[in-house]
Amino acid sequence: MIIAIDGPAAAGKGTLSRRLAAHYGFHHLDTGLTYRAVARALIEAGQPLDDERTAEGFAEAVDLAGLDRSVLSAHAIGEAASRIAVMPAVRQALVRAQRRFAETPPGAVLDGRDIGTVVCPQAPVKLYVTASAEVRARRRFDEMTATGQTADFLEVLADIRKRDQRDMERADSPLRPAPDAHLIDTSEMSIEAAFLAAKTFVDAAL
Ligand code: C5P
Repeated sequence: MIIAIDGPAAAGKGTLSRRLAAHYGFHHLDTGLTYRAVARALIEAGQPLDDERTAEGFAEAVDLAGLDRSVLSAHAIGEAASRIAVMPAVRQALVRAQRRFAETPPGAVLDGRDIGTVVCPQAPVKLYVTASAEVRARRRFDEMTATGQTADFLEVLADIRKRDQRDMERADSPLRPAPDAHLIDTSEMSIEAAFLAAKTFVDAAL
């Protein structure tokens, strides 16, 4: 069983994916972390972020078992990740690893930007989780201030919009719902309500 979950930044797909994986006893891969791991490795090695061959080598070396959200969550890493994510050679290397992960029995939940459209177009359940840019910026802002970071709401909103634009307008694997994806708009929905909506779609496919 494969559950493919796509959507823009801060739409709630991470939380939803983890809940679904726990509920069904499936493995979970946040594919954003794979792009973030490549970006971080390049930055740490002092390598440029705009050289596709170099980035491809780093992408081939990414270890999915060693992805640690706590060292990859920095804002600058997310920004760098969305820059290297426009490179086809980087995407191909990471998609290969993601597809292998998706085949792990008894099932897997993968979340990202292109899971239903490119990585696992054969997935029996595809969800597109979204919310307005304002609601997503508010969530990000609240998350940051709750962990003691200083943040400016308008800056966070501008950032979310810039990231959306880069992810939706890139030529290779742009963010968009698969034609057969179920849409879940979490703008005015609790996590619990989103989980129940998703569960209905998964149960129908089991
Ligand atoms: O979801 P997260 O913010 O961690 O993703 C970081 C960046 O990685 C995204 O902005 C996007 O550019 C890229 N990404 C992608 N395809 C995926 C997952 C993430 O291009 N499947």
